[in-house]
Amino acid sequence: MKIEKVVVIGSGTMGSGIAAHLCNANVPVTLLDLTTEISEKARDRIFRSKPPLLLDKSQIENIKVGNINDNFNIVKDADWIVEAVVERIDIKHNIYEKIFKNRKAGAIVSSNTSSIPIKVLSEKLTAEQKKISALLTFLTQFVTWAY
Ligand SMILES: NC(=O)c1ccc[n+]([C@@H]2O[C@H](COP(=O)([O-])OP(=O)(O)OC[C@H]3O[C@@H](n4cnc5c(N)ncnc54)[C@H](O)[C@@H]3O)[C@@H](O)[C@H]2O)c1
Repeated sequence: MKIEKVVVIGSGTMGSGIAAHLCNANVPVTLLDLTTEISEKARDRIFRSKPPLLLDKSQIENIKVGNINDNFNIVKDADWIVEAVVERIDIKHNIYEKIFKNRKAGAIVSSNTSSIPIKVLSEKLTAEQKKISALLTFLTQFVTWAY
């Protein structure tokens, strides 16, 4: 599967780092957070980071920003949706509900959780949504749903 558009939800330490690496790989990415101001600040931190997170700072515009209330529609076009919000299961469950209502068929959904077991993360998903594969990356642990 070709990943051409990615949405990262949560633009903190991990979400902004993931967005920066996608930008380095020339993959357009949108960072969504509670407010667009938070995501804008995250993009600015990526731009000013030392040592630099970006290989080529002129590519910063490949990182779009928005918020989960006004801009969630972008999820409908994404090939990969990465959840990187705070480590709170209630918040993650709410985000998954929105993601799974909006994602296109076949889009990959991942969690960047550091400690919540797959069973707990996925307890509100349907059997179809629960088809899980786990993928360990060099960045951190991703729990991924795909079909
Ligand atoms: N920091 C690490 O070293 C590390 C390593 C591995 C995994 N993780 C995991 O990655 C995830 C994110 O951690 P982090 O360190 O980046 O946290 P962080 O606190 O730096 O960022 C979390 C972001 O989530 C946003 N957020 C909160 N509720 C939201 C919502 N409902 N919708 C959209 N955005 C929301 C916050 O505004 C914040 O920008 C957590 O699950 C954490 O356990 C963190």
